[in-house]
Amino acid sequence: MQTLEKTRGDVKDLALADAGKARIEWAASFMPVLAQIRDRFAKTKPLAGVRIGACLHVTTETANLMLALKAGGAEIALCASNPLSTQDDVAAALCAHYEIPTFAIKGENETTYYGHIESVIASKPHMSMDDGCDLVNTIYSKHNELLADVIGGCEETTTGVIRLHAMEKDGVLPYPVIAVNDALTKHMFDNRYGTGQSTLDGLIRATNILLAGRTVVVCGYGWCGRGLASRADGMGAHVIVTEVDPTRALEATMDGFEVMTLMAAAPRADIVITVTGDINVVDRAHVETFKDGAIIANSGHFNDEINLAAFDDLSSAVTKPRPFVDSYRMNDGRTLHVLAEGRLLNLSAAEGHPAAVMDMSFANQALCAEYAALHHAELEARVYDVPVDIDRDVARLKLHAMGVTIDVLTAEQARYLASWESGTS
Ligand SMILES: NC(=O)c1ccc[n+]([C@@H]2O[C@H](COP(=O)([O-])OP(=O)(O)OC[C@H]3O[C@@H](n4cnc5c(N)ncnc54)[C@H](O)[C@@H]3O)[C@@H](O)[C@H]2O)c1
Repeated sequence: MQTLEKTRGDVKDLALADAGKARIEWAASFMPVLAQIRDRFAKTKPLAGVRIGACLHVTTETANLMLALKAGGAEIALCASNPLSTQDDVAAALCAHYEIPTFAIKGENETTYYGHIESVIASKPHMSMDDGCDLVNTIYSKHNELLADVIGGCEETTTGVIRLHAMEKDGVLPYPVIAVNDALTKHMFDNRYGTGQSTLDGLIRATNILLAGRTVVVCGYGWCGRGLASRADGMGAHVIVTEVDPTRALEATMDGFEVMTLMAAAPRADIVITVTGDINVVDRAHVETFKDGAIIANSGHFNDEINLAAFDDLSSAVTKPRPFVDSYRMNDGRTLHVLAEGRLLNLSAAEGHPAAVMDMSFANQALCAEYAALHHAELEARVYDVPVDIDRDVARLKLHAMGVTIDVLTAEQARYLASWESGTS
């Protein structure tokens, strides 16, 4: 652990900073939309004088978002939004090369995790940028005195948006927050293609398992689950989906997957991955039923999707044959493998989503931060959708960067699509 007064951060090892810088630059080369926003921000300074407290996965892509916000004139302090997702070289580079105070150490315990959130709050942010709502929650619960100066926030993930809506419903949401996750150019791509690919990346890096011919159970067929199921299918796995929502279960069935309860799927599973945002999806009864050698992992936001206490209860020993693998010796003689302590697998055992998809998510973040800075006086303490114009701009810029050109409505078509007069002819 290395705390430097000069950089006002807390990172594992500043000697990693050069390696981190090289990887941040590599990621930047896949983030053309964010680069354009950064160039514009550098000229127009829409965030001048705005202090942003960010609680995000400290990855190469996040570093590029921080640089765009800084180019826009913001003062930033950053901490991790998960104890296992930090890339220590990136945290070091942000402190040492970019003078962005970063408080994040991969593997930090709960006390350090919340201590780091407190360090970000100590910078007295005007704006929060969260991934999972821990920052808003801590500001609201413990730092009411700061609220007068907070103008708004942005939230990156499904679970965070759910928590924000719950705060709004209980009348305790302290300031306006934009649900960046709900932008189409965020969840349709990041959650689906990002989580789909990077979860398998985490699974493979952690275990080096061959997916072809294995039975993979995907719990939850939302945006993340759809991507994960289709990618596992593409790798030759036999995919079973479990759901609680009848429409999504029907969708999974018609997409060609077997759908059943987790109790029915558990004895058949070689690999089980939860992506629900729900608690105890893998519960004691399932743990009792998994076959010998089964691998259990989570890619949902929190580490409560798998009931780890049940594994402890029903086992006599745990070994660590590889990084991110806990092999439980069960009392009945089976061995079950839990990956990344039940934390999100893609960010713990791999690097999270590829930069090309985070380009869109973080373009939304940057543009929503600008929007909040410009419009906060008109906003109430509510959860807001990303303005449609921002969503469309991000899609347009991404298509342009990918060299894709699309048709434009003719005047006749625009009129026709807005009219009711013409019908069967
Ligand atoms: N790992 C990552 O990088 C990453 C990226 C994006 C989102 N997330 C997180 O992944 C989780 C899922 O996100 P999403 O966008 O797919 O959400 P979503 O709401 O689109 O989908 C979640 C699905 O899980 C289902 N579900 C809930 N409880 C269930 C249960 N007990 N058994 C089976 N299915 C159940 C719901 O019906 C829903 O269809 C959230 O926690 C989100 O924050 C993680």
